Amino acid sequence: MKLKNLILKNYRNYESFEYNFSNNKTLIIGKNAQGKTNILEAIYYLCTLDSSRIKKDCELINFNSSNAQIKGEIEKTGTTIELEVNINPPKNKILKVNGLKKTKSKDFLRVLSSVNFSTSDLLLLRGEPQNRRKWLDMAIFQVYPLYSDKLAKFNKIRLQKANYLINTININHDMLDVFNLQFSIACANVIYLRMKYLNELEKIAKIKHKAINEDENLKIEYQTVEKNFSNVKELSEIIYKKLNEIKQEEIKKAQCLIGAHRDDIDFYINDIDSKKFASQGQQRTIVLALKLAELQILKEKINETPLLLLDDVLAELDSIRQNYLLNAIDNDIQMIITSVDTLAFDKKFLEGVDIIKIQQGRIIDNS
Ligand SMILES: Nc1ncnc2c1ncn2[C@@H]1O[C@H](COP(=O)(O)OP(=O)(O)O)[C@@H](O)[C@H]1O
Ligand SMILES: [Mg+2]
Repeated sequence: MKLKNLILKNYRNYESFEYNFSNNKTLIIGKNAQGKTNILEAIYYLCTLDSSRIKKDCELINFNSSNAQIKGEIEKTGTTIELEVNINPPKNKILKVNGLKKTKSKDFLRVLSSVNFSTSDLLLLRGEPQNRRKWLDMAIFQVYPLYSDKLAKFNKIRLQKANYLINTININHDMLDVFNLQFSIACANVIYLRMKYLNELEKIAKIKHKAINEDENLKIEYQTVEKNFSNVKELSEIIYKKLNEIKQEEIKKAQCLIGAHRDDIDFYINDIDSKKFASQGQQRTIVLALKLAELQILKEKINETPLLLLDDVLAELDSIRQNYLLNAIDNDIQMIITSVDTLAFDKKFLEGVDIIKIQQGRIIDNS
């Protein structure tokens, strides 16, 4: 698939923006805080209706406006599809596919797919568990359509249970049992899909990782309540049993002490914990392998070539990793790359790309 055209109106620092992507590789150049990431964010928003940089959609609206619009023209298996999002609070956002309103986001999602790789991903191993969970959730979300519902269900019951624990003086054990039963089912669904995805990801990431550093063996492990189970039902029963065992402690602390919201992902190189002991370079190689694996899984699942959005990341990688990344990506994958300047790039690479220069939310030059 290709993104052929992007239109932004009152989106972040763009009053209006339009660009025709005529090349498979586009490089967006500009000083800091000019709006480079905003463009990638808008494209990613068309893919997922989400952004890792926002809590609420209204943050995407230009400070001087009350509504924002993102429009994209996508070419996919010989047809052109137009996606449009209008964000106009307090009304619900309006989603359109080929001009037709869609009331369910699932009818909008997955028309456009992309893998986003930014400098903050490079810090994935250094960061908090919640960053790693968010990365994993976003990756799964594009591959398994039902995952967002399952995750939303789990978060809802978790919050309900947490509120009950916090706000109730005399906890009714039968009531807590009801919460725990629902919690364990919703939680098992999330853990199951996360582990299934990570399993697939690990197989591919291992190979990508070896290709960059043949002496190192990458292992990925999901840290959770229970890893040994044969199906989701069994997992939910195990979680329910564990919740029963820690009931008093959860009441005392007024917290949901176990579950998918507490899980983490561990990475090992030659059996050594990479979050603690790997060098910055080793950690970057892991993230690079993860992102390439993410791209491959997405490509296989949707049977199409997703977009690759590289936000500032190439300049951050040394030339070995940069070349590896660029060579590892199939030529038919559309890449949209941001960078402060062209200095970090290979001359040969630059010959094949379109360059847009951005200043204060405007295109000042494209060649
Ligand atoms: N809702 C908004 N309305 C107007 N400007 C915004 C909004 N959100 C962010 N910005 C501006 O966008 C700029 C940052 O854009 P960004 O794409 O992150 O920059 P960079 O080019 O460094 O990637 C900042 O100047 C910020 O003030
Ligand atoms: Mg940026």
